[in-house]
Amino acid sequence: MKSVTVICIGDVFGEPGRRALFAILPRLRAELDADLVIVNVENAAAGFGVTPTLARGFLDGGVDVMTSGNHIWDRKEIIEYIVKENLLLRPANYPTGAPGVGSVVVKAGTYQVGVLNVQGRVFLPSIDCPFVRADEEVARMRAATPLIVVDMHAEATSEKQAMGWYLDGRVSAVVGTHSHVQTADERILPGGTAYVTDLGLTGPIDSVIGVEKELAIQRFLTGMPNRFEPAKGRARLQGVVIRIDPETGRASGIQRLQRDLPA
Ligand SMILES: [Fe+2]
Ligand SMILES: [Fe+2]
Repeated sequence: MKSVTVICIGDVFGEPGRRALFAILPRLRAELDADLVIVNVENAAAGFGVTPTLARGFLDGGVDVMTSGNHIWDRKEIIEYIVKENLLLRPANYPTGAPGVGSVVVKAGTYQVGVLNVQGRVFLPSIDCPFVRADEEVARMRAATPLIVVDMHAEATSEKQAMGWYLDGRVSAVVGTHSHVQTADERILPGGTAYVTDLGLTGPIDSVIGVEKELAIQRFLTGMPNRFEPAKGRARLQGVVIRIDPETGRASGIQRLQRDLPA
């Protein structure tokens, strides 16, 4: 039986990230014969949040589900959009009352796949517990499908690893986002959950996690706030491709992706 193939793409940062995504994704999708493409878009609008126009552009451009994180609220106009479009997720563990949803079940070929977005609490705002919320959301989605992919948006590698182990055997994959640096620890955990600590960055290569390097250096040198802008120039796409057994929901493969946009 053919496996279900899911591409997960790391945080799209500003115009260089969008340029890399739109240039590379169509070919990548065809080459890998992907059934589902999940992209973290929390930095799509010049590094800070995402706008309704950009979000619509992603859905038109081959993205199936958008995840996010702590930057989701940076552009106020997204609130009106997120309450109507459940293909743009915000972390599920924001307290009750936050607009939007943190999970969705979508069609991927002839199968259903659940996508869940949660956010860590180490070095990030202290919202509700991501582990408890993941329990609830995973239990609910497993009633519909054993194919579930989790975007764990967190700063601490330990918190992301803990989530991977916590959900091992209950979901198909746990992929980390937020650090904008791809980790080389992709593996299948014993229970059949594909795991990677961070998908990496889809954005400008010559940058400090997407930001113009001179601005980032200046902030470190002076300790003073300054206005961050996306770096310009060469761009790259990073993420993983995951193969999942559609009957059991167990992952059979996870591979890192890194594609540079030719200058
Ligand atoms: Fe990010
Ligand atoms: Fe983030």
